Amino acid sequence: VAQLNTLAQAAGKLYFGTATDNPELTDLPYVAQLENTADFHQLTPANSMKWDATEPTRGVFTFAGGDQIVAQAQANGQIMRGHNCVWHNQLPDWVEAGDFDNATLLSIIENHCGTLVGHYAGQMYLAESQKDAWDVINEPFNDDGTFAQDVFFNTTGTSYIPTALRAARAADPNAKLYINDFNIEGTGAKSTGMANLVKQLKAEGVPIDGIGIQSHLIVGEVPTTLQQNIQDFVDLGVEVAITELDIRMTLPYTPILAAQQTEDYRTVISACKAVAGCIGVTVWDWTDKFSWVPGTFAGQGAACPWDVNLDKKPAYEGIVEGW
Ligand code: XIL
Repeated sequence: VAQLNTLAQAAGKLYFGTATDNPELTDLPYVAQLENTADFHQLTPANSMKWDATEPTRGVFTFAGGDQIVAQAQANGQIMRGHNCVWHNQLPDWVEAGDFDNATLLSIIENHCGTLVGHYAGQMYLAESQKDAWDVINEPFNDDGTFAQDVFFNTTGTSYIPTALRAARAADPNAKLYINDFNIEGTGAKSTGMANLVKQLKAEGVPIDGIGIQSHLIVGEVPTTLQQNIQDFVDLGVEVAITELDIRMTLPYTPILAAQQTEDYRTVISACKAVAGCIGVTVWDWTDKFSWVPGTFAGQGAACPWDVNLDKKPAYEGIVEGW
């Protein structure tokens, strides 16, 4: 039977993978499928490498949760994506409300990224050709392409971005360094903002290797410009990964919505397949049982390729057909 990673690699990609989270690892049927390497060759920790989890107190680092996901991956020969170094959500209060001046906050960012990426240097890939990859910067943009007015931008302007990227590069010279965001699936103001940032970073000699297109999509609303947009990003001289794919709907889950979701998964996978610089696809967990969607978007769900009973949905076949 054709399976997701087997097909992705046959199409020349590095991996098909999934997000997972530490509490899920006590669910043995879940873990059995997570370890199915014909479907998944790559894991992303959904929460345990974020700032609140890794540096809850200034200068005190806790890597136990992240280490557990890395050990889970390594035991099965799976590679990892690191997620993430700098993001305005899931920040500890000491950062969010610290009221630091520019120089102090930049040094805090440098220390956080350097220590985090350094801790995992060389741990996240098992083959020489497959480098560590990190979402160094997560969600820096508003939907109109301007920068989010978060604690980092409000204190440092855009200086936090090169500071974080350079710290990550110094800590793991082999890692692929990404900026990751949502609503950059199609062409438009936010994608243009991302492209302009990448161009500027490259012009300034700041290390940047990839753009992560999260792809938290809505059934029936996959942008028609997705493939073109991936190509446009690749043409900037970076690689692209689909980093957090899920395709949600307003519940209930009906046969009509299931059929549209199947087509939508096929469309996303085909777009990545068609562009050589799109290196892999990660779903933001593979089962509706552990999807973040119902807890975040009221009344919505059924976004993953497997249902709450861990049975494959038609969406799984959509991914198969896309590859
Ligand atoms: C989500 C996790 O899946 C949830 O468990 C958590 O409560 C909130 O964050 N974009 C991202 C991810 O980059 O880190 C988010 O993950 C989903 C949106």
